[in-house]
Amino acid sequence: MQHVKRTLVTTALPYANGPVHLGHLAGVYLPADIYVRYKRMKGEDVIHIGGSDEHGVPITITAEKEGISPQDVVDRYHRMNSEAFRKCGISFDYYGRTSSQEHHDTAKEFFLEIERKGIFRRKTEKQFFDATAGRFLSDRYVTGTCPICSNPEANGDQCEQCGTHLSPTELLNPKSKLSDATPELRETMHWYFPLGRFQKALEEYVDLHDLQKISPENFQKKPYSVWRPNVVNYTRTWLKQGLNDRAITRDLSWGIELPISDPEACGKVLYVWFDAVLGYISFTRQWAVETGDESLWRAYWQDPESRVVNFIGKDNVVFHTLMFPAILMAWNEGRQSGIYNLADNVPASEFMNFEGRKFSKSRNYAVYLGEFLEKFPADTLRYSIAMNYPENKDTDFSWQDFQNRTNGELADTLGNFI
Ligand code: MF3
Ligand code: ZN
Repeated sequence: MQHVKRTLVTTALPYANGPVHLGHLAGVYLPADIYVRYKRMKGEDVIHIGGSDEHGVPITITAEKEGISPQDVVDRYHRMNSEAFRKCGISFDYYGRTSSQEHHDTAKEFFLEIERKGIFRRKTEKQFFDATAGRFLSDRYVTGTCPICSNPEANGDQCEQCGTHLSPTELLNPKSKLSDATPELRETMHWYFPLGRFQKALEEYVDLHDLQKISPENFQKKPYSVWRPNVVNYTRTWLKQGLNDRAITRDLSWGIELPISDPEACGKVLYVWFDAVLGYISFTRQWAVETGDESLWRAYWQDPESRVVNFIGKDNVVFHTLMFPAILMAWNEGRQSGIYNLADNVPASEFMNFEGRKFSKSRNYAVYLGEFLEKFPADTLRYSIAMNYPENKDTDFSWQDFQNRTNGELADTLGNFI
């Protein structure tokens, strides 16, 4: 490995829609923190940037259920999660929020640049409209009967009973979650990002990091990392199918409004994934402002000798290996300066389960980090999880294992040795 001038480490931004649990800690935040601490100890230039993902439909649905505003929801969980990470010793240099003005400005800047270059495609399509509420309904706002298994409470994007992915128009007896009214189909326009336009450039990007494809010339290019096989494989599966246009706008009132006065843009916000990945950039900018040198963020994102490392869970892979790089490519296109580095590594972990079953925020089957740390010290947890890190395969957290590691390995073996 060549000498690396600087490293920017990012961790996936957890949705501010619930408390982070031990699965999140194991998959993303603890490995990143260990990596960052190791580099700091070696005297390397490294920063760790993270924060809350505060947009998206799950947040508006929670707000409506509880009769509070989306801002109240994200305020609650942003505070809870940043506090839990602090208690756990996850040493962020900056922990931002995507509801901040600075983040909105950054996301709008990217949208406008890509719009100015004429890269987005606009498409008109028929979508459900709730005439009582006066709003177009995004997928999750429509329920109805599943055409496959007849579950009367299927969602517009998926039936939870049989697992089928659906589109709202496939539902029998569709209903609006806003008013219970039967929605009607109306024409609406959406902005699409043409991922396929970047297919070749993305393939070349992946090749640079794929152990099977690395050529001697690539070794000369820059400090680069070989990606984990799981990351390459998920990404290749998408590339093989051929990349399609992806809608990057949604009909919602919570999110980042489109920064154009077009009447078609009214009532629409950016798709949460389009804005969330840009949080890494806007938070680095905010970090720089706090250090007193507001241009310092450029050294981490735009110096070709710096490297970016995105720690994520396996469910986030293609957003980081295809979507985000394509957005940066669209920005970089035709530029002489202000060119962003693409991630040099995207370490995605497998999952850590809990007593043999998947952690689930929606089913409330989880051990939440904040609650855990009210009862046990952070270091015993960090140790148990580090010993059980889901690097190449799913692992399991059990109370018995935690007890054995704490009492057996830490207290008896290490304690007695000392
Ligand atoms: N909020 C997403 C999740 O929990 C992760 C977003 S990562 C980001 O799955 F880069 F988009 F921010
Ligand atoms: Zn079904």
